[in-house]
Amino acid sequence: MCGIIGYLGDDEALSVVTAGLANLEYRGYDSAGVALGDTELTVYKRAGEVDALTEILPESTSHTRGIGHTRWSTHGPPTDANAHPHTDEAGRVAVVHNGIIENYEQLRERLSDRTFTSETDTEVIPHLIAAELDAGKSPKEAVKAAAAQLEGSYAIVVTIAGVDSLFAIREGSPLIIGHAENGTFLGSDVTAFLDHTQQVTYLADGDLAVIDRDGLSVYRNGELVDVAVEELDWEADAAEKGGYDHYMRKEIHEQPRALRQTISGRLDTDRGRVALDIDLPTEYLESLEEIQLVACGTSYYASVYAADLFESLADVRTTVEVASEYEFSTNRDPWRTLVVAVTQSGETADTLSAIRTAARAGARTLAVTNTLGSTITREVDDTVFIRAGPEIGVAATKTFASQVATLALLVVLVGRKRGALSSERATSVLDSLRGLPGAVQQILDREDTVLETAETYADSDAFFFIGRRLGRAVSLEGALKLKEISYDHAEGFPAGELKHGPLALVTENTPVLAVLTDGARPEATLPNVREVQARDAPVIGAVSDTEASALDVTFPVPDLGVMEPLVTNVYWQLFAYHVANLKGRSIDKPRNLAKSVTVE
Ligand code: M6R
Repeated sequence: MCGIIGYLGDDEALSVVTAGLANLEYRGYDSAGVALGDTELTVYKRAGEVDALTEILPESTSHTRGIGHTRWSTHGPPTDANAHPHTDEAGRVAVVHNGIIENYEQLRERLSDRTFTSETDTEVIPHLIAAELDAGKSPKEAVKAAAAQLEGSYAIVVTIAGVDSLFAIREGSPLIIGHAENGTFLGSDVTAFLDHTQQVTYLADGDLAVIDRDGLSVYRNGELVDVAVEELDWEADAAEKGGYDHYMRKEIHEQPRALRQTISGRLDTDRGRVALDIDLPTEYLESLEEIQLVACGTSYYASVYAADLFESLADVRTTVEVASEYEFSTNRDPWRTLVVAVTQSGETADTLSAIRTAARAGARTLAVTNTLGSTITREVDDTVFIRAGPEIGVAATKTFASQVATLALLVVLVGRKRGALSSERATSVLDSLRGLPGAVQQILDREDTVLETAETYADSDAFFFIGRRLGRAVSLEGALKLKEISYDHAEGFPAGELKHGPLALVTENTPVLAVLTDGARPEATLPNVREVQARDAPVIGAVSDTEASALDVTFPVPDLGVMEPLVTNVYWQLFAYHVANLKGRSIDKPRNLAKSVTVE
């Protein structure tokens, strides 16, 4: 989705802003642009990648104030004209915008005496600001008055010719300020400026920020307010490729470290307890009737994994809802329903909408997210961070593992407080979690075998992933990973479902990837494996008991109880990566996809 970078400081803005745009590329976009200037503004913008934009940029300028944008089209196709920044007729006001202005058609009518040059909803904003300036308002008041006329969600950054400040305002879309010695930064996420600073301020909805040579001022309800500066604990190189060809491969390999961070300081293995720093009183949990996990995509599959654990270990009915389909049923008691939003970015519009529905119904809400300061953290009663570090590849990998591990910690917390989980059983789950980083490393060390397997099967007609229970979640996720980056047909099924229809698709040219580990009912899945083998399909199996094999390819999984299917997922990630890489796909930025899906 769209990305924003803004800078005002001592350095040349052009290079800061273009580097910021490159850092934002991972979000997914189809055009890009920058606006630079002091007494006059110059806008450069182009459909296509940042590289295409770079071709029309000057080598250097003397400007130290600039804004930039990567656009993911919503209103109007990806053309030069529709790319941001947008300006008023005189080119005095330039604006970049993330989000959607819902009343832009009415506003365009109201501004019918002005000439519009794009099909976007955004273009109304510079015209509105210019109209307020024409009416005699100060730049700050003009931005505020213009924003007051907007309906929808937005994060907006504004530069005005002859005004040595940047103005920013947010409503529903994230906007973060970075503070560094060489100036002040604005970003739709911290990766935009992570190479300059880890000191950040998160703006709240409705905040108007003014950045000038003295730094940042934030106005809330018209009053100047003090805002906190927080220190990120992300490593400076966390958002770089670090010698890997792709972010996705780097992030797959970062999983042991990410998982260590996820569980660090949270396990009390001896007593079978966890510490998550959230407020879920025992009496509330004892009376809990249902947990609803709401999520999209990979986060949904992490939730499918966790739902099984909640039911089997914490003895609580758990449903998993695709966030875009979520409704709070009137036959549920909101006081006895905990709604957990699982979202890496914390900005997914469908998940935010679902959690708002739950909160309106009166349910207690919790977020499980990777992103400090994200919108979801402001909307829920409590948050648990998965601590996976920044994930740049569009395909979620390490965050899936860290989501499952975090949710497993929550399962233990809930199970213990409800009295449903004995300390012995809890200890064994926590031991599995403690063993995860090492077990994942063992799979990563076998990457060559996975590459060979990918080379053997890359040209297949389709791929089917099967597994039961926890293996079902991993099969769904494995298929999603493969299809989104290789563009091949891949589907995941509960193994027992195959014979009820999908088996018709199985041929000698459709490999079947099967989870045959603990937690995935291997004894029940093996007959399904034999069924596809009888139809000549090659079978690639992840197994904890190698005797159970007679497969075309056997991937061993270390003994790790309920975490074995999660470890299997690392094989599926590597397989997807290598199949896609052999086909030369755009692995970190698959076609049509965005990292953070901020529209419903
Ligand atoms: O940021 P979220 O976890 O809320 O994102 C939800 C999905 O868009 C996301 O998991 C998506 O399916 C993955 N990027 C696919 O790899």
